Amino acid sequence: MRKVLYNQFGDESVLEIAEQAVPGIEKDQLLIRVKAVSINPLDWKVYGGEMKLMSGSKFPKSVGIDFSGIVDQTGSAVTRFKAGDAVIGLLDVFKGGALADYVVVKANDIAPKPANIPFEHAAALPVTGLSALQISDELAAVGPNQNVLINGATGGIGLFAVQIAKKRGARVTAVVSTNGVAAAKKWGADTVVDYTKQPISQLNQRFDAVIDLSTKLSFKDAKSLMNRKAVFVSTLPSPLTLIYSFLNNLFSGQKYKVLILKPTVERFMTLTNLAEGDLQIVLDKTYSLTNVKEAYGESRRDKRIGKSVILLD
Ligand SMILES: NC(=O)c1ccc[n+]([C@@H]2O[C@H](COP(=O)([O-])OP(=O)(O)OC[C@H]3O[C@@H](n4cnc5c(N)ncnc54)[C@H](OP(=O)(O)O)[C@@H]3O)[C@@H](O)[C@H]2O)c1
Repeated sequence: MRKVLYNQFGDESVLEIAEQAVPGIEKDQLLIRVKAVSINPLDWKVYGGEMKLMSGSKFPKSVGIDFSGIVDQTGSAVTRFKAGDAVIGLLDVFKGGALADYVVVKANDIAPKPANIPFEHAAALPVTGLSALQISDELAAVGPNQNVLINGATGGIGLFAVQIAKKRGARVTAVVSTNGVAAAKKWGADTVVDYTKQPISQLNQRFDAVIDLSTKLSFKDAKSLMNRKAVFVSTLPSPLTLIYSFLNNLFSGQKYKVLILKPTVERFMTLTNLAEGDLQIVLDKTYSLTNVKEAYGESRRDKRIGKSVILLD
């Protein structure tokens, strides 16, 4: 089978398509025939070596965190899935390995694919859909009539965060660049701010939650956009931010929360229910596996609306 590997940290030029034997499974594992894998900024942060502390420096390493596919084999202790089931799944963020014809998982790493959506759209759900749910429902606890600012609202997480915050009854202000204005409105944002024309520091409003998906907004700068009991959510965990946010939250009414993605079976179910409803899953571009370097290079450099995926077939 084909599997994307790398033997040194670097840009997308380090990625290689290797030939490997199809892996065997243990009794509590499943073998999945992968159909599509989504592209996430976490991928190039990991293969770029930005997350060495968590990923380690032992090579070869593999790429691809979330995927859709079909169960090929199940171990004898697996009861929730059977061969032929269509599934979506999520691997360890720092180990990856979904960008391969087959992947080995445990039952808790996967969920049934929403029946009404194709494999390429389904692959776009796990990392960013679960992140958006964790941010909305746990970290920011978005609820009815809250004013929520989403900075970077037309990327992978933003696509779902805008729609979920609206479903939770919030008033959403989406901050996007010019090419994202129409999309953010379509996904339900009440107010759309084009950051290339109006810096958010000039916004004359205070929010109950400020969610930064751009990694460009610091807690210090976000404070002027927050009311006295508001929450700021960052997607950039680091030892320093975790310590700082912990200490801040002991003493300040303005809370600082940091996303560390923790998928749960319940949240996976909430996500698939939303996807079986009216959740829009927007794909900017699809690639074939042979164009893997181009796929990551373009996704890292270019502005994207929603998600991009790599197809394995
Ligand atoms: N901690 C965790 O567990 C975890 C889990 C998942 C993801 N993440 C991280 O979360 C972040 C968001 O993920 P994603 O998949 O949504 O990334 P993404 O698709 O790259 O989206 C980022 C968005 O930020 C926007 N942006 C860039 N500069 C901006 C600025 N100055 N002001 C406002 N918006 C700006 C981009 O819009 P334009 O291109 O139009 O400018 C883009 O829509 C990434 O850094 C990712 O690595 C963390």
